[in-house]
Amino acid sequence: MTTDLGMMPFGRYAHIVGWGKALPDRVVTNHELEQVVDTSDEWIRSRTGIQQRRIAVDPGETTATLAARAAREALEVADIPVSKVDMIIVSTSSPEHTFPATACIVQDLLGAVNAGAFDLSAACSGFVYGLGVAKGLIASGQAENVLVIGAETLSRITDWSDRNTCVLFGDGAGAVLVQSSPVPGGILSTEMGCDGSGGDLLILPAGGSKMPATLETVASGQHFIKMNGRAVFRFATRIMAEATRKVLDKAGLTVDDVDLVIPHQANERIIAVSMRNLKLPEEKVFRNLQYYGNTSTASIPIALCEAIEQDRIKQNDTIVMVGFGAGLTWAGTAIKWGVPTEKEVSFWRASQRSASYGLSRARSQLLRLSHHLGSNLVTEEGDSLPQVLAKRLEEWRKLLESEEPLEEAEEARPETDELHQQNASTEEKTPE
Ligand code: ACO
Repeated sequence: MTTDLGMMPFGRYAHIVGWGKALPDRVVTNHELEQVVDTSDEWIRSRTGIQQRRIAVDPGETTATLAARAAREALEVADIPVSKVDMIIVSTSSPEHTFPATACIVQDLLGAVNAGAFDLSAACSGFVYGLGVAKGLIASGQAENVLVIGAETLSRITDWSDRNTCVLFGDGAGAVLVQSSPVPGGILSTEMGCDGSGGDLLILPAGGSKMPATLETVASGQHFIKMNGRAVFRFATRIMAEATRKVLDKAGLTVDDVDLVIPHQANERIIAVSMRNLKLPEEKVFRNLQYYGNTSTASIPIALCEAIEQDRIKQNDTIVMVGFGAGLTWAGTAIKWGVPTEKEVSFWRASQRSASYGLSRARSQLLRLSHHLGSNLVTEEGDSLPQVLAKRLEEWRKLLESEEPLEEAEEARPETDELHQQNASTEEKTPE
Protein backbone atom coordinates (compact mmCIF):
# COMPACT_ATOMS: atom_id res chain seq x y z
CA MET A 1 0.00 0.00 0.00
CA THR A 2 1.31 3.42 -0.81
CA THR A 3 -0.11 6.63 0.52
CA ASP A 4 0.84 10.06 -0.60
CA LEU A 5 -0.85 12.36 1.79
CA GLY A 6 1.93 14.96 1.72
CA MET A 7 -0.60 17.36 0.30
CA MET A 8 -3.26 16.83 2.90
CA PRO A 9 -6.86 17.83 2.26
CA PHE A 10 -8.20 20.73 4.33
CA GLY A 11 -4.66 21.86 5.23
CA ARG A 12 -4.20 19.23 7.93
CA TYR A 13 -0.60 18.13 8.30
CA ALA A 14 0.78 15.56 10.72
CA HIS A 15 3.82 16.67 12.70
CA ILE A 16 5.88 14.81 15.28
CA VAL A 17 5.84 17.21 18.23
CA GLY A 18 6.94 14.92 21.08
CA TRP A 19 9.31 11.97 21.46
CA GLY A 20 10.48 9.70 24.25
CA LYS A 21 12.20 6.39 24.92
CA ALA A 22 12.41 3.82 27.70
CA LEU A 23 15.09 1.19 28.15
CA PRO A 24 15.56 -1.42 30.85
CA ASP A 25 18.56 -0.75 33.12
CA ARG A 26 20.18 -4.16 32.73
CA VAL A 27 22.93 -4.16 30.10
CA VAL A 28 23.89 -7.57 28.71
CA THR A 29 27.23 -7.60 26.90
CA ASN A 30 28.39 -9.98 24.20
CA HIS A 31 30.88 -11.41 26.71
CA GLU A 32 28.02 -12.37 28.99
CA LEU A 33 26.34 -14.20 26.10
CA GLU A 34 29.55 -16.18 25.61
CA GLN A 35 28.62 -17.83 28.94
CA VAL A 36 25.13 -18.73 27.69
CA VAL A 37 25.63 -20.05 24.13
CA ASP A 38 28.50 -21.09 21.87
CA THR A 39 29.34 -17.64 20.49
CA SER A 40 31.97 -14.93 20.79
CA ASP A 41 32.11 -11.18 21.12
CA GLU A 42 34.16 -11.12 17.94
CA TRP A 43 31.52 -13.09 15.94
CA ILE A 44 28.62 -10.94 17.15
CA ARG A 45 30.45 -7.64 16.51
CA SER A 46 31.74 -8.58 13.08
CA ARG A 47 28.48 -10.15 11.81
CA THR A 48 26.01 -7.69 13.36
CA GLY A 49 27.76 -4.65 14.87
CA ILE A 50 26.05 -5.29 18.21
CA GLN A 51 28.13 -4.88 21.39
CA GLN A 52 25.43 -4.99 24.05
CA ARG A 53 21.66 -4.93 24.54
CA ARG A 54 19.19 -4.03 27.29
CA ILE A 55 17.12 -6.79 28.85
CA ALA A 56 14.02 -6.39 31.04
CA VAL A 57 15.00 -8.70 33.90
CA ASP A 58 12.43 -7.34 36.34
CA PRO A 59 9.15 -9.23 35.72
CA GLY A 60 7.28 -6.01 36.55
CA GLU A 61 8.88 -4.35 33.55
CA THR A 62 6.81 -5.33 30.53
CA THR A 63 6.05 -4.19 27.01
CA ALA A 64 3.23 -1.99 28.35
CA THR A 65 5.23 -0.38 31.17
CA LEU A 66 8.11 0.43 28.81
CA ALA A 67 5.60 1.80 26.28
CA ALA A 68 3.91 3.97 28.92
CA ARG A 69 7.26 5.37 30.12
CA ALA A 70 8.26 6.32 26.58
CA ALA A 71 4.81 7.80 25.94
CA ARG A 72 4.92 9.94 29.09
CA GLU A 73 8.24 11.37 27.95
CA ALA A 74 6.79 12.11 24.50
CA LEU A 75 3.80 13.89 26.06
CA GLU A 76 6.11 15.96 28.21
CA VAL A 77 8.15 17.06 25.23
CA ALA A 78 4.95 17.81 23.27
CA ASP A 79 3.66 19.61 26.36
CA ILE A 80 0.10 18.41 26.04
CA PRO A 81 -2.05 16.81 28.72
CA VAL A 82 -2.80 13.13 28.25
CA SER A 83 -6.53 13.88 28.07
CA LYS A 84 -5.94 15.41 24.63
CA VAL A 85 -4.70 12.14 23.13
CA ASP A 86 -7.31 10.74 20.70
CA MET A 87 -5.64 7.48 19.73
CA ILE A 88 -2.90 5.22 21.05
CA ILE A 89 -1.25 2.87 18.58
CA VAL A 90 1.14 0.34 20.08
CA SER A 91 3.20 -1.55 17.59
CA THR A 92 4.67 -4.71 19.08
CA SER A 93 5.56 -8.34 18.39
CA SER A 94 5.79 -9.12 22.10
CA PRO A 95 2.38 -7.98 23.33
CA GLU A 96 1.38 -8.58 26.93
CA HIS A 97 -1.44 -10.90 25.78
CA THR A 98 -3.17 -11.94 22.57
CA PHE A 99 -5.95 -9.79 23.98
CA PRO A 100 -6.54 -7.28 25.44
CA ALA A 101 -4.33 -5.16 23.24
CA THR A 102 -1.20 -3.83 24.92
CA ALA A 103 -2.38 -0.38 23.76
CA CYS A 104 -5.39 -0.72 26.11
CA ILE A 105 -3.08 -1.42 29.04
CA VAL A 106 -1.02 1.62 28.07
CA GLN A 107 -4.23 3.71 27.85
CA ASP A 108 -5.02 2.74 31.43
CA LEU A 109 -1.45 3.32 32.67
CA LEU A 110 -1.47 6.81 31.15
CA GLY A 111 -5.05 7.62 32.14
CA ALA A 112 -5.74 8.65 28.55
CA VAL A 113 -9.48 8.86 29.16
CA ASN A 114 -10.36 10.25 25.72
CA ALA A 115 -8.24 7.89 23.63
CA GLY A 116 -9.06 4.85 21.54
CA ALA A 117 -6.31 2.24 21.57
CA PHE A 118 -5.21 -0.66 19.40
CA ASP A 119 -2.16 -2.79 18.67
CA LEU A 120 -0.49 -2.88 15.32
CA SER A 121 1.27 -6.05 14.22
CA ALA A 122 3.82 -5.46 11.48
CA ALA A 123 6.95 -6.61 13.35
CA CYS A 124 9.96 -4.30 12.98
CA SER A 125 8.16 -2.20 10.36
CA GLY A 126 5.32 -1.55 12.80
CA PHE A 127 6.38 1.84 14.13
CA VAL A 128 6.62 3.31 10.63
CA TYR A 129 3.29 1.66 9.70
CA GLY A 130 1.93 3.39 12.82
CA LEU A 131 3.12 6.78 11.58
CA GLY A 132 1.27 6.12 8.30
CA VAL A 133 -1.93 5.26 10.18
CA ALA A 134 -1.55 8.30 12.45
CA LYS A 135 -1.14 10.52 9.45
CA GLY A 136 -4.28 9.04 7.85
CA LEU A 137 -6.31 9.60 11.03
CA ILE A 138 -5.15 13.19 11.20
CA ALA A 139 -5.64 13.89 7.47
CA SER A 140 -9.21 12.58 7.59
CA GLY A 141 -10.03 14.71 10.62
CA GLN A 142 -10.57 11.72 12.91
CA ALA A 143 -7.82 12.64 15.35
CA GLU A 144 -5.79 15.61 16.52
CA ASN A 145 -3.21 13.88 18.71
CA VAL A 146 -2.04 10.34 18.12
CA LEU A 147 0.51 8.51 20.24
CA VAL A 148 2.52 6.06 18.14
CA ILE A 149 4.57 3.69 20.26
CA GLY A 150 6.97 0.91 19.34
CA ALA A 151 7.60 -1.38 22.32
CA GLU A 152 9.16 -4.80 22.83
CA THR A 153 10.27 -7.25 25.44
CA LEU A 154 11.68 -9.68 22.87
CA SER A 155 13.81 -11.31 25.58
CA ARG A 156 10.61 -13.03 26.77
CA ILE A 157 10.06 -14.76 23.42
CA THR A 158 13.73 -15.46 22.68
CA ASP A 159 15.19 -18.95 22.88
CA TRP A 160 18.27 -18.35 25.02
CA SER A 161 19.79 -21.59 23.80
CA ASP A 162 19.58 -20.60 20.11
CA ARG A 163 22.73 -18.68 19.15
CA ASN A 164 21.25 -17.82 15.75
CA THR A 165 18.72 -15.48 17.34
CA CYS A 166 19.51 -14.76 21.00
CA VAL A 167 22.53 -12.59 20.23
CA LEU A 168 20.47 -10.25 18.04
CA PHE A 169 17.59 -8.91 20.06
CA GLY A 170 17.01 -6.43 22.89
CA ASP A 171 14.17 -4.80 24.84
CA GLY A 172 12.98 -1.21 24.83
CA ALA A 173 10.36 1.27 23.72
CA GLY A 174 10.11 4.52 21.81
CA ALA A 175 7.15 6.82 21.33
CA VAL A 176 6.14 9.90 19.41
CA LEU A 177 3.17 12.23 19.62
CA VAL A 178 1.86 13.02 16.14
CA GLN A 179 -0.22 16.18 16.08
CA SER A 180 -2.48 17.80 13.55
CA SER A 181 -1.30 21.18 12.31
CA PRO A 182 -2.10 23.56 9.47
CA VAL A 183 1.64 24.13 8.97
CA PRO A 184 2.85 22.41 5.76
CA GLY A 185 5.42 19.67 6.37
CA GLY A 186 5.59 16.90 8.94
CA ILE A 187 5.00 13.40 7.58
CA LEU A 188 5.24 13.97 3.82
CA SER A 189 4.82 10.45 2.48
CA THR A 190 4.66 6.85 3.61
CA GLU A 191 5.27 3.50 2.01
CA MET A 192 3.90 0.34 3.63
CA GLY A 193 4.57 -2.99 1.97
CA CYS A 194 4.30 -6.71 2.54
CA ASP A 195 5.29 -10.03 0.97
CA GLY A 196 3.37 -12.64 2.96
CA SER A 197 5.02 -15.48 1.07
CA GLY A 198 8.04 -14.92 3.33
CA GLY A 199 6.05 -15.31 6.53
CA ASP A 200 7.80 -18.50 7.59
CA LEU A 201 11.27 -16.91 7.40
CA LEU A 202 10.77 -15.10 10.70
CA ILE A 203 8.03 -16.47 12.88
CA LEU A 204 6.81 -17.26 16.36
CA PRO A 205 5.03 -20.48 15.42
CA ALA A 206 2.86 -21.39 18.40
CA GLY A 207 0.39 -19.75 20.73
CA GLY A 208 -1.98 -18.52 18.02
CA SER A 209 -5.06 -20.29 16.65
CA LYS A 210 -3.06 -22.27 14.08
CA MET A 211 -0.87 -23.92 16.68
CA PRO A 212 -2.47 -23.53 20.11
CA ALA A 213 -0.26 -24.03 23.14
CA THR A 214 0.21 -27.67 24.16
CA LEU A 215 2.81 -29.47 26.23
CA GLU A 216 4.49 -30.46 22.95
CA THR A 217 4.65 -26.91 21.56
CA VAL A 218 6.25 -25.77 24.79
CA ALA A 219 8.67 -28.70 24.93
CA SER A 220 9.78 -28.19 21.33
CA GLY A 221 10.34 -24.42 21.74
CA GLN A 222 7.61 -23.38 19.32
CA HIS A 223 6.81 -20.31 21.46
CA PHE A 224 10.16 -18.74 20.62
CA ILE A 225 11.34 -16.69 17.62
CA LYS A 226 12.49 -18.84 14.67
CA MET A 227 14.44 -17.20 11.90
CA ASN A 228 16.12 -17.97 8.59
CA GLY A 229 18.80 -15.31 9.02
CA ARG A 230 20.36 -15.50 5.57
CA ALA A 231 17.02 -15.19 3.72
CA VAL A 232 15.95 -12.25 5.91
CA PHE A 233 19.34 -10.62 5.31
CA ARG A 234 18.95 -10.86 1.51
CA PHE A 235 15.41 -9.45 1.66
CA ALA A 236 16.43 -6.62 4.00
CA THR A 237 19.35 -5.34 1.95
CA ARG A 238 17.15 -5.15 -1.16
CA ILE A 239 14.02 -3.67 0.40
CA MET A 240 15.59 -0.95 2.57
CA ALA A 241 17.00 0.88 -0.45
CA GLU A 242 13.85 0.27 -2.53
CA ALA A 243 11.50 1.59 0.16
CA THR A 244 13.68 4.66 0.73
CA ARG A 245 13.65 5.52 -2.97
CA LYS A 246 9.88 5.01 -3.22
CA VAL A 247 9.04 7.15 -0.24
CA LEU A 248 11.30 9.96 -1.42
CA ASP A 249 9.81 9.76 -4.89
CA LYS A 250 6.31 10.09 -3.48
CA ALA A 251 7.36 13.19 -1.55
CA GLY A 252 8.91 14.68 -4.70
CA LEU A 253 12.39 14.43 -3.19
CA THR A 254 15.67 12.72 -4.07
CA VAL A 255 18.36 11.09 -1.96
CA ASP A 256 20.33 14.35 -2.15
CA ASP A 257 17.56 16.17 -0.28
CA VAL A 258 17.86 13.89 2.75
CA ASP A 259 19.55 15.22 5.90
CA LEU A 260 19.33 12.02 7.93
CA VAL A 261 18.17 8.43 7.45
CA ILE A 262 17.10 6.51 10.54
CA PRO A 263 17.05 2.87 9.44
CA HIS A 264 15.77 -0.09 11.45
CA GLN A 265 18.66 -1.05 13.72
CA ALA A 266 18.88 -4.77 12.96
CA ASN A 267 22.35 -5.35 11.65
CA GLU A 268 25.24 -3.01 10.83
CA ARG A 269 25.92 -4.90 7.60
CA ILE A 270 22.31 -4.58 6.41
CA ILE A 271 22.43 -0.82 7.05
CA ALA A 272 25.82 -0.45 5.34
CA VAL A 273 24.84 -2.38 2.19
CA SER A 274 21.45 -0.63 1.88
CA MET A 275 22.86 2.86 2.34
CA ARG A 276 25.73 2.13 -0.05
CA ASN A 277 23.11 1.12 -2.66
CA LEU A 278 21.49 4.50 -2.12
CA LYS A 279 24.88 6.25 -2.33
CA LEU A 280 24.16 7.94 0.99
CA PRO A 281 27.21 9.26 2.82
CA GLU A 282 27.94 7.70 6.23
CA GLU A 283 27.28 10.93 8.13
CA LYS A 284 23.68 10.95 6.91
CA VAL A 285 22.87 7.59 8.47
CA PHE A 286 22.06 7.20 12.15
CA ARG A 287 23.15 4.09 14.05
CA ASN A 288 22.87 3.05 17.67
CA LEU A 289 22.42 -0.71 17.34
CA GLN A 290 25.80 -1.31 19.01
CA TYR A 291 24.18 -0.33 22.35
CA TYR A 292 20.72 -1.86 22.10
CA GLY A 293 20.78 -4.68 19.52
CA ASN A 294 17.65 -5.18 17.45
CA THR A 295 14.70 -3.90 19.48
CA SER A 296 12.38 -4.61 16.54
CA THR A 297 9.66 -1.98 16.20
CA ALA A 298 11.17 0.10 19.03
CA SER A 299 14.48 0.54 17.23
CA ILE A 300 13.50 3.46 14.98
CA PRO A 301 11.79 5.62 17.65
CA ILE A 302 14.64 4.95 20.12
CA ALA A 303 17.13 5.95 17.42
CA LEU A 304 15.05 9.05 16.64
CA CYS A 305 15.26 10.16 20.29
CA GLU A 306 19.01 9.63 20.35
CA ALA A 307 19.49 11.44 17.04
CA ILE A 308 17.67 14.43 18.56
CA GLU A 309 19.73 14.18 21.78
CA GLN A 310 22.90 14.20 19.68
CA ASP A 311 21.77 17.25 17.73
CA ARG A 312 21.56 15.31 14.48
CA ILE A 313 18.07 16.66 13.67
CA LYS A 314 17.14 20.31 13.29
CA GLN A 315 13.97 22.11 12.40
CA ASN A 316 13.24 21.93 8.63
CA ASP A 317 15.51 18.90 8.13
CA THR A 318 14.32 16.13 5.81
CA ILE A 319 14.35 12.79 7.59
CA VAL A 320 13.71 9.29 6.26
CA MET A 321 12.80 6.40 8.54
CA VAL A 322 12.84 2.98 6.94
CA GLY A 323 12.42 -0.53 8.27
CA PHE A 324 11.75 -4.18 7.44
CA GLY A 325 10.59 -7.13 9.44
CA ALA A 326 8.61 -10.30 9.86
CA GLY A 327 5.66 -10.66 7.54
CA LEU A 328 7.69 -10.02 5.52
CA THR A 329 6.91 -6.32 5.84
CA TRP A 330 8.64 -3.06 5.06
CA ALA A 331 7.80 0.59 5.63
CA GLY A 332 9.31 3.98 5.02
CA THR A 333 8.39 7.59 5.65
CA ALA A 334 9.81 10.95 4.60
CA ILE A 335 9.39 13.75 7.12
CA LYS A 336 9.97 17.48 6.99
CA TRP A 337 10.83 18.09 10.62
CA GLY A 338 8.54 20.88 11.79
CA VAL A 339 9.35 21.78 15.38
CA PRO A 340 12.47 22.90 17.27
CA THR A 341 14.32 19.97 18.80
CA GLU A 342 15.72 21.85 21.79
CA LYS A 343 12.96 21.64 24.32
CA GLU A 344 12.81 22.21 28.03
CA VAL A 345 10.14 20.92 30.34
CA SER A 346 9.38 23.32 33.19
CA PHE A 347 9.44 22.08 36.77
CA TRP A 348 5.83 23.16 37.19
CA ARG A 349 4.60 21.18 34.20
CA ALA A 350 6.61 18.11 35.19
CA SER A 351 5.09 18.20 38.69
CA GLN A 352 1.63 18.83 37.28
CA ARG A 353 1.92 15.78 35.00
CA SER A 354 3.29 13.59 37.73
CA ALA A 355 0.33 14.50 39.99
CA SER A 356 -2.03 13.90 37.08
CA TYR A 357 -0.58 10.40 36.51
CA GLY A 358 -0.96 9.71 40.25
CA LEU A 359 -4.66 10.57 40.05
CA SER A 360 -4.97 8.37 36.94
CA ARG A 361 -3.48 5.42 38.78
CA ALA A 362 -5.91 5.88 41.66
CA ARG A 363 -8.80 6.25 39.21
CA SER A 364 -7.75 3.07 37.42
CA GLN A 365 -7.67 1.11 40.71
CA LEU A 366 -11.17 2.33 41.59
CA LEU A 367 -12.52 1.37 38.17
CA ARG A 368 -10.92 -2.07 38.48
CA LEU A 369 -12.65 -2.50 41.82
CA SER A 370 -15.98 -1.42 40.36
CA HIS A 371 -15.71 -4.01 37.54
CA HIS A 372 -15.49 -6.73 40.16
CA LEU A 373 -18.23 -5.48 42.49
CA GLY A 374 -21.80 -6.71 42.33
CA SER A 375 -24.51 -4.33 41.19
CA ASN A 376 -26.12 -3.84 44.61
CA LEU A 377 -24.45 -0.62 45.68
CA VAL A 378 -25.26 1.73 42.85
CA THR A 379 -26.49 5.30 42.61
CA GLU A 380 -29.57 6.29 40.65
CA GLU A 381 -27.32 6.92 37.64
CA GLY A 382 -26.15 3.32 37.87
CA ASP A 383 -22.68 4.18 39.23
CA SER A 384 -21.07 2.13 41.97
CA LEU A 385 -19.25 3.87 44.83
CA PRO A 386 -15.80 3.31 43.22
CA GLN A 387 -17.15 4.74 39.95
CA VAL A 388 -18.41 7.83 41.76
CA LEU A 389 -14.98 8.26 43.36
CA ALA A 390 -13.23 7.64 40.03
CA LYS A 391 -15.35 10.36 38.41
CA ARG A 392 -14.43 12.74 41.21
CA LEU A 393 -10.72 11.97 40.68
CA GLU A 394 -11.12 12.64 36.96
CA GLU A 395 -12.69 16.01 37.75
CA TRP A 396 -9.73 16.86 40.00
CA ARG A 397 -7.37 15.82 37.29
CA LYS A 398 -9.07 18.05 34.71
CA LEU A 399 -8.86 20.89 37.19
CA LEU A 400 -5.16 20.21 37.72
CA GLU A 401 -4.50 20.15 33.97
CA SER A 402 -6.20 23.49 33.55
CA GLU A 403 -4.02 25.06 36.25
CA GLU A 404 -1.21 27.17 34.89
CA PRO A 405 1.17 29.43 36.83
CA LEU A 406 0.74 33.03 35.81
CA GLU A 407 4.20 33.62 34.44
CA GLU A 408 3.98 30.51 32.20
CA ALA A 409 0.56 31.41 30.89
CA GLU A 410 1.90 34.79 29.89
CA GLU A 411 4.92 33.41 28.11
CA ALA A 412 4.55 32.37 24.49
CA ARG A 413 2.79 29.00 24.47
CA PRO A 414 5.23 26.15 24.04
CA GLU A 415 6.63 24.53 20.99
CA THR A 416 3.42 23.04 19.54
CA ASP A 417 2.04 26.55 19.25
CA GLU A 418 5.12 27.61 17.35
CA LEU A 419 3.79 25.45 14.56
CA HIS A 420 0.63 27.51 14.51
CA GLN A 421 2.52 30.79 14.62
CA GLN A 422 4.70 29.64 11.76
CA ASN A 423 1.62 28.61 9.88
CA ALA A 424 0.11 32.06 10.08
CA SER A 425 3.19 33.48 8.37
CA THR A 426 3.42 30.55 5.89
CA GLU A 427 -0.21 30.97 4.90
CA GLU A 428 0.27 34.67 4.37
CA LYS A 429 3.23 34.00 2.06
CA THR A 430 1.94 30.92 0.21
CA PRO A 431 -0.06 31.76 -2.92
CA GLU A 432 -2.97 29.41 -3.72
N1 ACO B 1 27.89 -17.19 17.21
C1 ACO B 1 28.74 -17.91 16.49
N2 ACO B 1 28.40 -18.51 15.34
C2 ACO B 1 27.14 -18.34 14.90
C3 ACO B 1 26.19 -17.60 15.61
C4 ACO B 1 26.61 -16.99 16.81
N3 ACO B 1 25.78 -16.23 17.56
N4 ACO B 1 25.03 -17.60 14.92
C5 ACO B 1 25.23 -18.34 13.83
N5 ACO B 1 26.50 -18.81 13.81
C6 ACO B 1 27.16 -19.63 12.83
C7 ACO B 1 26.16 -20.42 12.00
O1 ACO B 1 25.79 -21.59 12.66
C8 ACO B 1 26.96 -20.69 10.74
O2 ACO B 1 27.77 -21.78 10.95
P1 ACO B 1 27.91 -22.90 9.82
O3 ACO B 1 28.47 -22.17 8.63
O4 ACO B 1 28.81 -23.87 10.45
O5 ACO B 1 26.50 -23.38 9.59
C9 ACO B 1 27.86 -19.45 10.62
O6 ACO B 1 27.83 -18.81 11.90
C10 ACO B 1 27.42 -18.46 9.60
O7 ACO B 1 26.04 -18.29 9.70
P2 ACO B 1 25.25 -17.33 8.74
O8 ACO B 1 23.79 -17.44 9.02
O9 ACO B 1 25.72 -17.45 7.34
O10 ACO B 1 25.80 -15.93 9.26
P3 ACO B 1 25.51 -14.56 8.64
O11 ACO B 1 26.75 -13.89 8.26
O12 ACO B 1 24.37 -14.59 7.64
O13 ACO B 1 24.93 -13.76 9.91
C11 ACO B 1 22.86 -13.12 10.90
C12 ACO B 1 23.80 -14.25 10.60
C13 ACO B 1 23.57 -12.11 11.76
C14 ACO B 1 21.65 -13.65 11.65
C15 ACO B 1 22.43 -12.44 9.56
O14 ACO B 1 21.99 -13.41 8.65
C16 ACO B 1 21.34 -11.44 9.75
O15 ACO B 1 21.52 -10.40 10.36
N6 ACO B 1 20.15 -11.69 9.17
C17 ACO B 1 19.03 -10.77 9.31
C18 ACO B 1 18.40 -11.01 10.64
C19 ACO B 1 17.47 -9.92 11.04
O16 ACO B 1 17.71 -8.76 10.82
N7 ACO B 1 16.38 -10.33 11.68
C20 ACO B 1 15.47 -9.44 12.26
C21 ACO B 1 14.45 -8.99 11.29
S1 ACO B 1 13.49 -7.77 11.99
C22 ACO B 1 12.22 -8.44 12.90
O17 ACO B 1 11.10 -8.52 12.42
C23 ACO B 1 12.43 -8.88 14.31
